[in-house]
Amino acid sequence: MGTEKDTRTNYFNIFNDKKPIVVRRCSLEDLEGVIEVNEKELPEDYPYFFYKSILDNYPESFQVACNSNGKIIGYIMWRVERAPAINSLKLMNKGHLVSIAVLTSYRRSGIAAILLSNSMKKLKKYKVDKFVLEVRVSNYVAINLYKKFNFTAHSIKEKYYRDGENAYYMTLKA
Ligand code: ACO
Ligand code: ZN
Repeated sequence: MGTEKDTRTNYFNIFNDKKPIVVRRCSLEDLEGVIEVNEKELPEDYPYFFYKSILDNYPESFQVACNSNGKIIGYIMWRVERAPAINSLKLMNKGHLVSIAVLTSYRRSGIAAILLSNSMKKLKKYKVDKFVLEVRVSNYVAINLYKKFNFTAHSIKEKYYRDGENAYYMTLKA
């Protein structure tokens, strides 16, 4: 088997009802499965080329969770943005959480927590100073998850979503 893939992928084995779940880097072949999970679990859908460009540009932090049959049951993807820091001309790198989701039947087993912690470690390779994300103000499950990782609500983005819902803009120093 390709040693390149083996050395560049970290496997985490966790158990969901005693069946192993593997968390590893996303590959091109995984994108279809990622899109399926996204379309089932989130109203924000993206075209294929969007996923592909995230995978091309930020492959380290694009992670998937697979069940024992190899089916994708969760994913996380980030992009890195270079922007001036507040009150400063100094440029900083922000790791921006684009999307995370886990299939309903696999939830509450710590899969999202592993996806987050694993990908946040990987983001250090992109010299990220800060992690940022938006989340629906009504999405208390996801807000809970982010709080568990010490994210704090920095501000509210009014009518951030297409349906008019507000977002919390949450941040965490890397
Ligand atoms: N009620 C309250 N808190 C919860 C719940 C829940 N039902 N589920 C998870 N959490 C919080 C808890 O803090 C939990 O820690 P704990 O188990 O120690 O209490 C923490 O999240 C980690 O739980 P996991 O089991 O790792 O989370 P899970 O694998 O179930 O996935 C996720 C969480 C990704 C939010 C899942 O519910 C999901 O896919 N939701 C739909 C998609 C979504 O809303 N994604 C986030 C959108 S915002 C964005 O993508 C930037
Ligand atoms: Zn965003």
